[in-house]
Amino acid sequence: MKLLHLDASSLGQHSVSRELTAAVVAKLAREHAGLDVTYRDLTAQPLPHWTPVVDAASEAARLGEAVMDEFLAADVVVIGAPMYNFSIPSQLKAWLDRVLVAGKTFSYGESGPKGLAGGKRVIVASSRGGIYSSGPATGFDFQESYLRAVFGFIGIANVEFVRAEGVNVSAEHKTNAVASAHDSIGNLTTKAA
Ligand SMILES: Cc1cc2nc3c(=O)[nH]c(=O)nc-3n(C[C@H](O)[C@H](O)[C@H](O)COP(=O)(O)O)c2cc1C
Repeated sequence: MKLLHLDASSLGQHSVSRELTAAVVAKLAREHAGLDVTYRDLTAQPLPHWTPVVDAASEAARLGEAVMDEFLAADVVVIGAPMYNFSIPSQLKAWLDRVLVAGKTFSYGESGPKGLAGGKRVIVASSRGGIYSSGPATGFDFQESYLRAVFGFIGIANVEFVRAEGVNVSAEHKTNAVASAHDSIGNLTTKAA
């Protein structure tokens, strides 16, 4: 089983989402002997903003191909996705810009768009300072809702979220939110993809 592990937090060792993706990968590694993990740190080695590939031999083209190949090869994709300004970090957006590619992960046909990347399991570790799962800010969640939409578009309907929210509300709230996210990691099913 192949797993692609992505982190997109800029907070290094203080990052909640990095702690959670590491815990998800550790759990899956315990359950699947020989798990083949590819790691990509989208802030340590940021992808440039997407631009059209004019030279197939360029570094930009090589990177784009590497990102797509890693994604297509993966049975499971584990993504650390902090909320930045109600959405996702631009480093993660730059990765998505290389993964949502017509003819590779989706196609347009007479009956509309069709996802071509079905069959993968996607687990997102979502961290956010405020609370969006209930209360007055629910309409401001363009982070999880966006990720659900883009992966649904390419054929992955059931994105699984492990979430620590309200981490900036108070120290106590953060402790509880992270503990609750770890509980939900413990409850992830052991299915493969
Ligand atoms: C640039 C930036 C923008 C942020 N924007 C939001 C936001 O819009 N809403 C929110 O609830 N928290 C926001 N936060 C707080 C983060 O979502 C929170 O600290 C989260 O834990 C970040 O994930 P990480 O710990 O993995 O880095 C922001 C943090 C940063 C650094």
